[in-house]
Amino acid sequence: MRILVCGGTGYIGSHTCVVLAERGHDLLIADNFSNSSPRVLERLQAITGKTPAFERIDLRDRDATHGLLREGGFDAVVHFAALKAVGESCEKPLDYFDNNITGTIHLLQAMQAAGTKRLVFSSSATVYGDPDRVPVREDAPLRVTNPYGRTKLVMEELIADLCASDPAFHAAVLRYFNPVGAHPSGLIGEDPGGTPNNLMPYICQVAVGRRERLSVFGGDWPTVDGSGVRDYIHVMDLARAHADAIDTLQRERRGFTVNLGTGQGVSVLQLVQAFERASGKAVPYEIVARRAGDVAEVYADPSLAQSLLHWSAEHDVDAMCRDAWRWQSMNPQGFAS
Ligand code: NAD
Ligand code: WQD
Repeated sequence: MRILVCGGTGYIGSHTCVVLAERGHDLLIADNFSNSSPRVLERLQAITGKTPAFERIDLRDRDATHGLLREGGFDAVVHFAALKAVGESCEKPLDYFDNNITGTIHLLQAMQAAGTKRLVFSSSATVYGDPDRVPVREDAPLRVTNPYGRTKLVMEELIADLCASDPAFHAAVLRYFNPVGAHPSGLIGEDPGGTPNNLMPYICQVAVGRRERLSVFGGDWPTVDGSGVRDYIHVMDLARAHADAIDTLQRERRGFTVNLGTGQGVSVLQLVQAFERASGKAVPYEIVARRAGDVAEVYADPSLAQSLLHWSAEHDVDAMCRDAWRWQSMNPQGFAS
């Protein structure tokens, strides 16, 4: 299939491009590099042996987005392009509404005008807020706790309304839990600018000597060891799910919403221990106050993805840590190394 990958030079997008290219799809990557590096394109060439077609474009540019879809002849669009920092979204909600929601509206309009009727959309477990029970199923109540989460929920609703209005338009809404790890080559991986907001990149930067110690946000949660519990999922498993979602859209001729996680809860301290084992590096930490907005325990019920996409996660936490560390140790300063 000919596939447009919006946000394809970002963390999850770049890994997904590897899998899609390996499955023989013909890709065009579109990105504005607001949170990624042009060097990703060279690394994708090194991994896949093919130069990825690329267009620098901002989805907020309506005319450019329409032009891209009109000319492209795409069978499907995979849409990763969004701002994703929860804290920043509380400081700059309008930037998040504009980038994420306006960009998505332009993309959907352009798809409709071009007659491109298959969409794979990056949603997030953030739409469940603080869930009433774990593991979380797709029919759990949706509630948002920050502007970033609101953009994901609104975008899910916009997509659902479009699907209701046009029975030929099919969308796969993928709710990711906590993506970590990297391609086994160590050539691409997660490269946050500034201080990492997320746990795994922070651990990596401590292990590689860029930061002194990890702050563990809360040691008194009602969990196995008092630290927060999440469902970490290897980014290569996640990438494969996108390719499987495209196959499923084609096979089933209908849209769907699925959780993508392992179904296993792992605590912050368990992840630190696994990382130390995998890397042979010490990760000094101190337990500090809880982070505002955090919750004790979130992990997926991934059984719908298993039955519908015939997909399940294959990598365990040790593999996630090993691959995250290979990427970080080979690229201590990320793509600027
Ligand atoms: P990322 O920031 O690495 O990738 C997003 C890419 O989109 C970047 O390359 C960025 O430059 C690009 N982009 C952003 N706005 C754009 C615009 N207006 N026009 C063109 N390009 C634009 O993030 P990621 O971790 O790869 O996340 C991908 C998607 O998955 C996002 O939608 C994110 O909200 C969602 N998600 C991420 C996580 C996570 O923890 N990483 C969890 C759940 C959901
Ligand atoms: C994981 C655990 C922290 C950093 C966020 C977004 C969510 C989704 C994924 C996009 C928690 C603890 C963290 C640190 C710590 N993104 N922690 N010290 O909060 O589950 O989810 O990323 O959609 O929307 O909210 O992920 O990696 O920030 O935190 O102790 O320096 O690690 O308290 O228990 P989170 P995270």
